[in-house]
Amino acid sequence: MENLKLNIEKVSDFVSLKTIGGYSSEISRHIETLYNKTGKGNDFLGWVNLPSVITEKEIKEIEKIAKNLKSKIEYLIVIGIGGSHLGAKAVIESLSDSFSAMKKDRENPFVLFAGQNISEDYHCELLGLLKDKEYAVVVISKSGTTTEPAIAFRLFKNDIEKRWGKDGAKERIIAVTDARKGALKQLADKEGYKTFEIPDDVGGRYSVLTPVGLLPIALAGFNIRELIDGAKAMQKLTGLNSQFEENPAAVYAATRNALYKSNHKIEILVNYNPKLHYISEWWKQLYGESEGKENKGIFPAAVDFTSDLHSMGQYIQDGLRTIFETVISVKEPNHTLLIPEDKENLDKLNFLANKPLDEVNKMAELGTILAHVDGGVPNIHIEIPKLNEFYIGQLLYFFEIACGISGYLLDVNPFDQPGVEAYKNNMFALLGKPGFEEATKKIQEKFSL
Ligand code: PA5
Repeated sequence: MENLKLNIEKVSDFVSLKTIGGYSSEISRHIETLYNKTGKGNDFLGWVNLPSVITEKEIKEIEKIAKNLKSKIEYLIVIGIGGSHLGAKAVIESLSDSFSAMKKDRENPFVLFAGQNISEDYHCELLGLLKDKEYAVVVISKSGTTTEPAIAFRLFKNDIEKRWGKDGAKERIIAVTDARKGALKQLADKEGYKTFEIPDDVGGRYSVLTPVGLLPIALAGFNIRELIDGAKAMQKLTGLNSQFEENPAAVYAATRNALYKSNHKIEILVNYNPKLHYISEWWKQLYGESEGKENKGIFPAAVDFTSDLHSMGQYIQDGLRTIFETVISVKEPNHTLLIPEDKENLDKLNFLANKPLDEVNKMAELGTILAHVDGGVPNIHIEIPKLNEFYIGQLLYFFEIACGISGYLLDVNPFDQPGVEAYKNNMFALLGKPGFEEATKKIQEKFSL
């Protein structure tokens, strides 16, 4: 079995390979700290061992519930936000047929998401779509108190109870939440919903390999065993006994930190396959919430090429030189499509006749990398052999462990997110939530509202 490959050759014009290698012993210490749980945020390190400690019993339970529910529904609505949304969304999008929404002969329910925003239009249109459809809900919230999913859950619980009654709701609602605390846990126990637990020591953005990600992914019809096996293989490659040069997560963390120190403050994650769009969204949350604190951190951004070469390409080639790129490249596509020959050849493309589309895509990728490096943009290259469960599992764990190491290199706690409270406090104050009266007054005075 091949593994994910990391190539950092194209950063050498910007930071020396010696500088990157210089992080080796510090990174060994950080890997030990992650495993021994002796560093910052050490009560949230359950994810480090998740791929190897998940039990057959836990996997079977998820598969059993998924199999049973799948046969009864056309749509699955997953309610959650942040880490309770992006992992499942990223994996499902990366593995799904791009047009499965339009296909009538689907074997598995189509998975849609709610509560990842508070848009009235979005939720109204989604409820409209489901009006005469068989559907079920998986509601996910570790804290059980997050406003966006809590509001969405009210809407869908109400709809389900109206259509199928309280008993029907028990068959159609599954909650994934804390083992003991939070409003969702209380509600699920009271209403008798099936629940899955999120381990206490796993934070939202590191939770894709718990029922938070695994249940929706299994319901969408994907093989969670292979996903876990991929993550397990990556854990082996990046674990305590790995040598720096052979540990892609260590080298990635060292490279991006060396670049950060040489004034490359923005990392752009690039893909050449639209199925990876949400992997980038998941990655943005992982790195943004883990590193962006204490007025430090690389700003994580993402683009979908070649589409965005026709929009962001100009800036990346010629704009402010504070960026670097990390390309995720998929070695083999899952389909073959050859470019046809055309007798007229008016578009002058016959030189491409009978070539697979992917060959053109790969040359676009290489041509862009060379142009961007020439233009002053360092390039990190990650190659995965194929888009399947195993390699997506590898990729997810690779990014998670590299993020833990990277956060420690930056000397922040990569497992908290104190900054996300500020908007919530203002929103509650503006909405007049009881207990926020003082804050409401302050905002009204400051902004003359
Ligand atoms: O990474 C995190 O912890 C956060 O982004 C959470 O996932 C997000 O805020 C949702 O929280 P909860 O699952 O408690 O509703």
